[in-house]
Amino acid sequence: MGSSSVFAVGFILAFLSLSCWTASADIVETSFVVKNLTVNRLCQNQVITAVNGSLPGPTLRAKEGDTIIVHVFNKSPYNLTIHWHGVFQRLTQWADGPEFITQCPIRPGGNYTYMFNLTGQVGTLWWHAHVQWLRATVYGALVIRPRDDQKYPFVKPYREDTILLGEWWNANPIDVESTALASGGVPVNSDAYTINGWPGDLFNSCVSKNTYKLDVVPGKTYLLRIINAALNNQFFFKIANHNLTVVGADAAYTNPFQTDVLVLGPGQTNDVLFTANQSPGLYYMAATPYASAAGVPFNGNTTTGIIAYQNAKQTTPILPVMPAFNDTPTAFAFSSNLTALVTSPFWSPVPRTVDEDMLITIGLGISACSSNQNCSGIFGQRMSASMNNHSFVLPSRVSLLEAVFRNISGVYTTDFPDTPPLIFDYTNVNNSFNQSLLFTPKLTSVKRVKFNATVQVVFQNTALIGIENHPMHLHGFNFYVLAQGFGNYNPATDTQKFNLVNPQERNTLGVPVGGWAVIRFRANNPGVWFLHCHLDVHLPWGLGTAFLVDNGGTPESTLPPPPTGFPQC
Ligand code: C2O
Repeated sequence: MGSSSVFAVGFILAFLSLSCWTASADIVETSFVVKNLTVNRLCQNQVITAVNGSLPGPTLRAKEGDTIIVHVFNKSPYNLTIHWHGVFQRLTQWADGPEFITQCPIRPGGNYTYMFNLTGQVGTLWWHAHVQWLRATVYGALVIRPRDDQKYPFVKPYREDTILLGEWWNANPIDVESTALASGGVPVNSDAYTINGWPGDLFNSCVSKNTYKLDVVPGKTYLLRIINAALNNQFFFKIANHNLTVVGADAAYTNPFQTDVLVLGPGQTNDVLFTANQSPGLYYMAATPYASAAGVPFNGNTTTGIIAYQNAKQTTPILPVMPAFNDTPTAFAFSSNLTALVTSPFWSPVPRTVDEDMLITIGLGISACSSNQNCSGIFGQRMSASMNNHSFVLPSRVSLLEAVFRNISGVYTTDFPDTPPLIFDYTNVNNSFNQSLLFTPKLTSVKRVKFNATVQVVFQNTALIGIENHPMHLHGFNFYVLAQGFGNYNPATDTQKFNLVNPQERNTLGVPVGGWAVIRFRANNPGVWFLHCHLDVHLPWGLGTAFLVDNGGTPESTLPPPPTGFPQC
C-alpha cells in the first residue's frame, strides 16, 4: 500500500467517525483525471479541458448518506478546483471547492482528494470546475438516490437519465474570459448550446452521432434529471408533444407540478417525469435561451436531443414550439409556482423568526479604467457588477476559509452592508446610465453571522446598465424561497405574500428581471459560503459576496482543520 492510500484509509476512518454513518451508507470512490482533449464540434477541432476524456464528464451516482471520495489529478495547463454544486459540506467545508473562497487551486501537475458525504438531500446536483471559466467543459452530474430502505415519493420510473444543458465556444473559454477581462468589455457569446455535450442536429456537424438520443418504450414513465450547466444562459426546455411533471429541484422534492415547459437558470436542476404516451415516433427535446436583458445581443440558437420511441417509422423528429426568448411571464409562472413536498423526510419547517434581515441590491455597474488604458466597457470604463455596491474581488494569496481558520488579517473585511448604501429607485430604467450610481468599489467584504442564526435576504435587482434576471447561488445551504415579484420590494405589502408553509427549497434562484426575491435559511453550517450570480459573465465582474458563519461551540458545529494534502497557494 502506497503512503497516499494509507493516508486515505486513515482519513476515511477519521471522517466516518465524525459523520452520522449508518450501515446502509456506502463509499463511492473514483478518480478524475483532468487534461486536454481534442473534440470536434460544429465541424471544428477544439482542444478542451476535460475530465476522464469525456464531455460532459462522468456522472457520479450515489445514495443519500453515502460518502464520496474523488481523487482529482490536474494534468491540465490550468489551475483547477472542483465544486460539488448544492452539497451542504457539513464538517467538510474544505471540500466545497470555489477557488480562493474555501481553497487554493490545484496547480497543474498537482492532485487533491475531495471527500464529503451526501446526507439530507436526494435528487440531482452536479459538479463543476470553480476556477475562471473552466466549467465550460469541466462539469458533470451528481445523482443522489434514496437509501435502500426509502422510496421516491412518486411513481417508480422505468428508467432514469441525465440531461446536461451546456454552452459551446469555437474558442478556448478561458481565453474568451481573459480577453474580456483585459479589455474591461463584454465577453463574446458562445456559438452553440448543447445537450449532453452535443449542439444537436439542427447544426452542421462533421461527425456521426452528433445528437443525444434517448430510446423509450411506449407507455413507460421516465425520470429525467435536467441540469443547466451553461455559463451565461437561462433556458426554456421542452419535449415536443409531451407533458412534464416536476418532482424535484436542486435535490429537494417538490409537489408534483405539471407543465409543458421548464425554465432553468445556470446552476439549477429539475427532476421531471414524463410518460411515453404519444404515437410512436421521434420527438425533439429542445432548449432555447430565456434572455431577459433587453437590448443585449445573445445567441438565439436551439439545441436539441431526440426522444426515440421503439419502432418509430418517421425519420424527422417533431420540434416543440418554444417560448419567445423574452417570455418573462412563462419564466415567472414556472419559477414562482413550485412548492416543497413537506412530507419529504428531509423537509424542515421554515424558521419563523429572523435574526439577520438583509436587503441586497444586485446588478451591473462600472469601475474606473486606468488612465494608461483604453477600456471597452460602457463609457470607456470597465464592466463591473456588485451586491449592495460592493464589487467582490477574490483574494489571491490564501483562501477566505483558511484566512478565517488561521486568523490571517488583511485578507477580507466583515463590513458587507445589510442594506444598500444608497437608496434610489432601483428598478427604474431611467437610472440605467446614471453615472452617479454606476461606479462600484472593488472589495473583499463578507457578511459575518452567528452559528444557527436565521438569515433573510431580499435580493433586489437594479436597472443599472440594464435589467436582467440573475441566478443567485448560495453554497453550503438550501434556502427557502418565500416570495418573488417585480419592481421595488415593498415590505409593507410584499411580506403578506410570503409562503411560510411549503416554499420551494433551492440552492440557486433566478431573481426576476427588474424585480426581487426573498429567501431565508438557517446558518447551521460554520464556514465561508460563497453567494454569487451563477452567470459566469457577472461573477468575475464582482457579483458576489460570502457568508462567514461562526463556529457554534460544539464539535459538530466547529470548522475542522484542513485535511492533509490540502492545496497550498
Ligand atoms: Cu455552481 Cu459557486 O457555483
